[in-house]
Amino acid sequence: MHADTASRLDADILEFMDACLQKEHPKSYLIAVLHKIQQRYGYLCQSHMDQVAQHMQIPTAIISGVSTFYHFFRLQPRGKYSISICLGTACFVKGADKVLDAFRTELGIELGETTPDGLFSLESSRCLGVCALAPVVTINDKVYSKVNAKQVPELINTVKTEERV
Ligand code: FES
Repeated sequence: MHADTASRLDADILEFMDACLQKEHPKSYLIAVLHKIQQRYGYLCQSHMDQVAQHMQIPTAIISGVSTFYHFFRLQPRGKYSISICLGTACFVKGADKVLDAFRTELGIELGETTPDGLFSLESSRCLGVCALAPVVTINDKVYSKVNAKQVPELINTVKTEERV
């Protein structure tokens, strides 16, 4: 579900918000509500945030602030290929930041964004438990080990070539 236009939140999410409203500090459940929405739809679209604002009586500005402050919230749909750079300590020490910069430059997007053609989105992750392979990049379910910044254009081209086949 990628349309940003007037897609109604599912009934169980509305019920979850109702349950939160019965609790002592309903607004403190905002992050839990946003998590649920992102789990269901893959990202937080404006229409859904507006519905949360209305349903929970929370100003839209606060919801926008929360969703942009926490980098685990996505404000755009995921690309067909989700590129995730591990920024855990071992990967960072071995140059994951430079790998990330190379992806940013090559794709022209920032973390959490998706390319205009909907092909790639860029994310970061914490330690994947394979530190011996640092720096680690995943593209969807595929794991790439010991990646360096110079390999990034080639990696992207490989995916684009597979896409065309
Ligand atoms: S820090 Fe990246 S896999 Fe452990």
